[in-house]
Amino acid sequence: MLAIIGGSGLTSLATLEVSHRQALQTPWGEPSAALSFGRMGGRPLVFLARHGDEHGIPPHQVNYRANLWALSQSAPAGIVAVAAVGGIRPDLKPGDLVIPHQIIDYTWGRAATFHEWPQSAVTHIDFTEPYDHALRGRLLAAALAIGVTVSDSAVYAATQGPRLETAAEINRLEGDGADVVGMTGMPEAALARELGIPYAALNVVANHAAGRAVGGQAISIEAIHAVLAASMQQVRAIIERMLGDDD
Ligand code: HPA
Repeated sequence: MLAIIGGSGLTSLATLEVSHRQALQTPWGEPSAALSFGRMGGRPLVFLARHGDEHGIPPHQVNYRANLWALSQSAPAGIVAVAAVGGIRPDLKPGDLVIPHQIIDYTWGRAATFHEWPQSAVTHIDFTEPYDHALRGRLLAAALAIGVTVSDSAVYAATQGPRLETAAEINRLEGDGADVVGMTGMPEAALARELGIPYAALNVVANHAAGRAVGGQAISIEAIHAVLAASMQQVRAIIERMLGDDD
């Protein structure tokens, strides 16, 4: 069974037939929402809304450890994390889909590991390749099969939020090699790796990153929501196709 973490614009999966919901308490506190178990296109799936069912939890206050631990309890074969991003790379425009292959973490002050003294021994996971190669391949193949264009590599910069970046910060991120910027990719990816769960991300470019829009206008949250609403149909279609390729 696959797990999906839905971000902004995907607080539910419209074509998921929910069979039951499970509200879990974890050693790390309460997840963002109850897990939704069900089927999509006949295939089993578990879904979690990263920001809560009502999208009330901002990126820096998401309990990533509780979310990942809760999902791990159903031993998913993999986690597909859907998240909105700003586009830094010039060819990326609102509405584009991206399957990132690398991460740079600029977040701070988040509970970012399950391995804390004195409960756990010192543990250093390998994170050279932060996303699971096979799961990325399945996402790419599903997109290709249904004729949805996705960018097959990108460096994801994880920022702290909840504010958007300054234009100078985006220039710095670009100088560091970042192609897209979002607020939720870390520590989510690292926690999945700590739990040994294959993890890949499907990013929706919601806006040009700060200072990158033609004319340099400010980023409009209304415009972001409109882009996300329009793109989620494609996100759902990719996931549905991916589930169909399961056997
Ligand atoms: N910056 C950070 N996170 C985001 C953005 C952005 O421009 N757009 C959507 N999530």
